[in-house]
Amino acid sequence: MTVKTISTTAFNDQKPGTSGLRKKTRAFMMANYLENYVAATFTAIDGGAGKTFVLGGDGRFFNRDAIQTILKMAAALGAARMIVGQGGLLSTPAASHLIRRHKAHGGFILSASHNPGGIDADFGLKFNAANGGPAPEALTARIHAATLTIERYDIADVPDINLDTVGQTQMGDMVIDVVDPVADYSDLMASLFDFAAIRALFTGGFTMRFDAMHAVTGPYAHAILEDTLGAAKGTVVNGIPLEDFGKGHPDPNPIWASDLMALMMSDAAPDMGAASDGDGDRNMIVGKGTYITPSDSLAMLAANAHLAPAYRDGITGIARSMPTSAAADRVADALGVPCFETPTGWKFFGTLLDAGRVTICGEESAGTGSHHVREKDGLWAVLLWLNILAARGMSVAEVQADHWQRFGRNYYARHDYEAVETARADKMMAHLRAQLDGLPGQSHAGLTVTKADDFAYTDPVDGSTSAAQGIRLFFEGGARAVFRLSGTGTEGATIRLYLEQFVSEGNHAAAVDQMLDAVRQAALTISDLPAFTGRDAPDVQT
Ligand code: G6P
Ligand code: ZN
Repeated sequence: MTVKTISTTAFNDQKPGTSGLRKKTRAFMMANYLENYVAATFTAIDGGAGKTFVLGGDGRFFNRDAIQTILKMAAALGAARMIVGQGGLLSTPAASHLIRRHKAHGGFILSASHNPGGIDADFGLKFNAANGGPAPEALTARIHAATLTIERYDIADVPDINLDTVGQTQMGDMVIDVVDPVADYSDLMASLFDFAAIRALFTGGFTMRFDAMHAVTGPYAHAILEDTLGAAKGTVVNGIPLEDFGKGHPDPNPIWASDLMALMMSDAAPDMGAASDGDGDRNMIVGKGTYITPSDSLAMLAANAHLAPAYRDGITGIARSMPTSAAADRVADALGVPCFETPTGWKFFGTLLDAGRVTICGEESAGTGSHHVREKDGLWAVLLWLNILAARGMSVAEVQADHWQRFGRNYYARHDYEAVETARADKMMAHLRAQLDGLPGQSHAGLTVTKADDFAYTDPVDGSTSAAQGIRLFFEGGARAVFRLSGTGTEGATIRLYLEQFVSEGNHAAAVDQMLDAVRQAALTISDLPAFTGRDAPDVQT
């Protein structure tokens, strides 16, 4: 095998964000762009020699080309083995599982998650560590540092390999195993849940629609829901992964999964609706006529997890990202287990999961998961919901109502202001930070501020610290507003405004907008968001 050494120059925009490096596809396709980042990743982990890696992606445009490049670079560095999903496909949670199962050194996952795919859309690459979870900040910092100094990289001068046939091949001395992307994951799910009870649910006439949004979960959902659990054929829609996700936006929320939402709010609604994102780690759960917010889903899953075999003995703790509502905190209190509040990004759950301090984690951004892998897991959440419905003999709406009755309701919404000029967004955040000390005691829109801070986190396991993770404004009467800049956008800045109002008793069926109106007004006044951004309404509301 001939190895070529290619001279290159550093790109100054390869700083990984919340979830790896995410850029326009055309940026990734520029000469040396992908190669530089891959080489920097290998540098950051002290090379690839003798190591095993997992490799796959969500099937978006450029997925296959990127896989061939990474294989050739790994071979050039003397990697021992690459485990690749057939067709280049691996959902993020399935990749996490494979890393753990094969005790691999890590994995390369090609995805821009829920961002659109195609030559004029987005592409991404993230590296997961040996625990199966997203690279921790120390590692992403080393990767970034290496991208800034790179001068050359090595790549094997060999033909592309066939990604479509399961089996073993070699590239030089490196063994390549092309594996069924679904099989191991499906076995893992069968070991966690009461498949017999879920099968009985479907046999008893339970109906469902799972929208795979033309992304990676199609094959997983077909195999598990329809072929294994007996859901009717046609339960899974948009189940064939497409390079451009059918020109859609594979983000499972009421905006981007609007067809599913419309169906679930209509008379023709099946018993449950669900969707997952580009790379299969996010989920959306909808009942007949009712949507489950991700923050509530986390709380409801945690409260009922003991009904599934894997969590029968209870959970050790819950973790949620800071902007996620406090609904889960109330469940943790009731169960007598700790609830950790971490910065946004699944990577912050890794140490807690590894140390056994938490069993279930979740985020407002439609991610829920457990210690079974080190990523959030869309189908896992759907299956746990099904297991709970089967065990309780209740509908989605009944589980929701029962939960609010018992724990109270955290009314919640996220307002996104997208593609804001970065300088304007930064100025608004600075304006907020400058006011923090003076805010407590002030009243806006009838709400009095009790506390205002810039969220900082010290990891209780490894002691690492993360500052400036979002501005939190707490108000008397159980309201909270949070401002954060997204770490996953590819254009300008996205301001996220998270609004929450807790109601303990009584009024659990009011309109969300109405319940959040006061806290929204207070947040807009304090931040001066409309003036700073020139926007009078959010682009997306979830
Ligand atoms: C990715 C990460 C999540 C995170 C989400 C939101 O999906 O995996 O852990 O919550 O991005 O990030 P953003 O910075 O855009 O709010
Ligand atoms: Zn995702």
